[in-house]
Amino acid sequence: MIVLGIESTCDETAAAVVERRRDGTSAILSNIVYSQITEHAPFGGVVPEIAARGHVERLDSIISRALRHAGKTVATVDGIAAAAGPGLIGGVIVGLTTAKAIALVTNKPLIAVNHLEAHALSARLVDNTLFPYCLFLASGGHTQIVAVRGVGDYERLGTTLDDAIGEAFDKTAKLLGLPYPGGPQVEKRAKNGDLQRFSLPRPMTGRDNADFSLSGLKTAVRLEAENIAPLGRQDIDDLCASFQRAVTDVVFSRVRAGLMIFNRRYGKPTALVAAGGVAANEMIRQVLDMVAREALVRLVVPPPELCTDNGAMIAWAGAERLELGLTDGLDVSPRARWPLGEVAHAIPAPKFAPSSRLRHTPDKG
Ligand code: KG4
Ligand code: ZN
Repeated sequence: MIVLGIESTCDETAAAVVERRRDGTSAILSNIVYSQITEHAPFGGVVPEIAARGHVERLDSIISRALRHAGKTVATVDGIAAAAGPGLIGGVIVGLTTAKAIALVTNKPLIAVNHLEAHALSARLVDNTLFPYCLFLASGGHTQIVAVRGVGDYERLGTTLDDAIGEAFDKTAKLLGLPYPGGPQVEKRAKNGDLQRFSLPRPMTGRDNADFSLSGLKTAVRLEAENIAPLGRQDIDDLCASFQRAVTDVVFSRVRAGLMIFNRRYGKPTALVAAGGVAANEMIRQVLDMVAREALVRLVVPPPELCTDNGAMIAWAGAERLELGLTDGLDVSPRARWPLGEVAHAIPAPKFAPSSRLRHTPDKG
């Protein structure tokens, strides 16, 4: 099964061709990502209109390159997948409409992929991880701990009550005058900083639930920064190091609690899986490794280029869904909001009614 995948939900214009074999193993035949960072950097964050226009201008050529690198054409792939949300609606419309057009002219199946589901399944792309596993998903817009029981079968065990972790990194960077996107900048500056200089809060640690709260931590950084203003280079390095340390302590506590909830509900997971841009952070990877060792579960973290947004994860999720017959009609809607719990999944086929095999959740926009 060979699927073309298109990603355009935020500031990456990406396309990839991925093969999924019958035994569940995979091959990434191509994976082309164009990051719009330089276009958004002057504004200190993603500007939705600029992002959507960027996708319109570049998506066709990115798709052509992905097909060429894979040695394929639109006629020789088995399905066309695109992220249909959640995300910035202008970009989502560009990617999904392009996928619909290709599916229409080639008469190939269309798969409207949930971007979060694509992050959730990326461990199976790199590692063939079996269900059920415990997912720690941390990106610019989402922070969740999820029980992944099957394709389309997700239960959220914990989430953030305010900012996402990536958002906290981005906002902290901004208030310290570091360029967008903040996560990699904070990580870089933290390398030379003193992680004990500032005593910052660790919200929610020690609680039984697996929820996060990060806005107070970001505010604490702002207050410390205001106290010692004007900030020198070393001050910024120290604030970055202290902030990153506090976040990693929070991640340790929350993921540990999430694993305990998972164990109580489903028994031991096959693995602890990390996904989303924040999982590219080296220190966060280290604490996840500590939690996994303590719980005696395997840790699966895709390489950084598959943790941040990319087309390969969309193509892979498309292939997993296509394998189960979970395809979409050309009338499927793009969605700005689309919680994982609302993703359609296959249910066991009733003996005499094969046409009712698919359960589709109504689109709530
Ligand atoms: O998954 P992703 O590429 O896009 C979204 O779907 O949001 O995640 C982007 C987020 C941004 O907030 C970015 O600052 C953060 O992931 N990020 C990092 C690192 N690399 C990316 N955060 C901390 N450390 C990093 N090395
Ligand atoms: Zn993402």
